[in-house]
Amino acid sequence: MEVGAQFGDEGKGKIFDFLSADAKYVVRTGGGPNAGHTIHLPQGVVVLHQLSCGVLRRGVVGVSGPGMVVQPFSIEEEIRELERRGLLQGEVAISDRAHVLLPVHEIEDAWQDDLRARRNPEGALGTTRRGIGPAYSDRAARWGIRIADLDRPAVLRENLELMYAAKSHLANLPPIDELASRLAEVGGRLAPYVRSIEPILWDALARGERVLLEGAQSALLDLDFGTYPFVTSSHPTSAGALVGSGLPPTEVDSVLGIAKAYATRVGGGPFPTEETGEAGEFLRRVGGERGATTGRARRCGWLDLVLLRYAARLNGLTALAITKVDVLGGLEEVPVCTQYEMPDASTVRDVLPTHADDLARARPVYERLPGWPEFHARLRERLRREGASALPATLRRFLDRIVEETGVPVELVGYGPARDETLRLPPPVTRRTGAGLSAWSG
Ligand code: GDP
Ligand code: IMO
Ligand code: MG
Repeated sequence: MEVGAQFGDEGKGKIFDFLSADAKYVVRTGGGPNAGHTIHLPQGVVVLHQLSCGVLRRGVVGVSGPGMVVQPFSIEEEIRELERRGLLQGEVAISDRAHVLLPVHEIEDAWQDDLRARRNPEGALGTTRRGIGPAYSDRAARWGIRIADLDRPAVLRENLELMYAAKSHLANLPPIDELASRLAEVGGRLAPYVRSIEPILWDALARGERVLLEGAQSALLDLDFGTYPFVTSSHPTSAGALVGSGLPPTEVDSVLGIAKAYATRVGGGPFPTEETGEAGEFLRRVGGERGATTGRARRCGWLDLVLLRYAARLNGLTALAITKVDVLGGLEEVPVCTQYEMPDASTVRDVLPTHADDLARARPVYERLPGWPEFHARLRERLRREGASALPATLRRFLDRIVEETGVPVELVGYGPARDETLRLPPPVTRRTGAGLSAWSG
């Protein structure tokens, strides 16, 4: 399985797409239209919000899984758009157990974040306003509507009435009758894609087929283990991917964490290594750091190894993919945060303070690594032809430090947005070298 190891937008889409080439099923395990996964295909750029990247590959089934909250109108639009562009090469499947995210939830999401902002501008979460929190709340309240309910008029009606009764504080909700009939209609149009997913995946695994679990959002946005309350309302961790797919832990053979060579965050919440000045502006400009879903400028900063170690332990990462190393090319030195100094003079190396306030007060301590050259066309060409041996020595050193500090081998390196700009590193030496593993066998 693959999970985001930072605050989201690590380049998961690109890595999932790369790995989906030899999968039979690729399953999105959580979240909904808050996600934006960018994939640069030879035919053009695609941003997937609710569909799994498996839908782009011939012979692959891209599943929108049971752990998701699916906005039926926009997922339909996403399918049609890919069809129009001739990019729907794989098969679309939508879990019958996924919950339905309604226009009502979008209104409620905005209402909730506005309420927070009025009380304290610092307290606003800066959600994507796609209705994620309220949709998961209604799931937990057990009057949520599931995809399987769209052709059950009585259940649909009853649950809508319960939901509306609980949301009488909201203005401008669409009339129930109109919403119920639009939902029944869209349910009819989506019906050809709806499947009971879990038995399909169990059978596939029994036949020895490859199933890839595709996490959206990321570890530090996990509802319980992220920077609460500045989190999303699902569980984007490896544990969450199991609940979100119906697969047992015994079927997992690897957990790949995806992290950028630096860090970004969209929305509110603590971000110890954030750079608000020129350095942040540089990362935003060169990295093209603008939200794939909301278009908001992403907050930018340096790689935080404290948070990466935490994500490694929380998810049980067995390997790392480090993306966007090209963005840092040409810098004289590359800072990485190795520990925090806390206001009480204690140090933190591999845990996440429970209170977001405490994390906001953490002072990052940096190690400054020598930078590597810019990624000109010639270097890219050599990397494509010669593979890992063409990596600049200082970039190897950077990757090695990540391996030493996290104890997790780096398996993939992204050096550009295109499908083929991904390097697979040679398998790591398994001997421990002091603090961790060594990435290089030679
Ligand atoms: P996701 O949500 O994790 O899938 O990431 P996003 O798609 O939201 O944001 C990642 C951005 O970085 C996208 O614009 C990708 O095309 C781009 N990207 C991914 N990997 C690389 C890389 O290795 N180098 C560069 N320069 N861009 C990358
Ligand atoms: P991908 O899959 C980055 C952030 C929002 C906000 C917080 C809560 O593209 O990495 P929500 O709408 O989920 O209630 O917002 O979580 N957030 C993301 N940030 N990438 C994402 O998805 C995100 N999905 C949610 O910005 O801070
Ligand atoms: Mg994204």
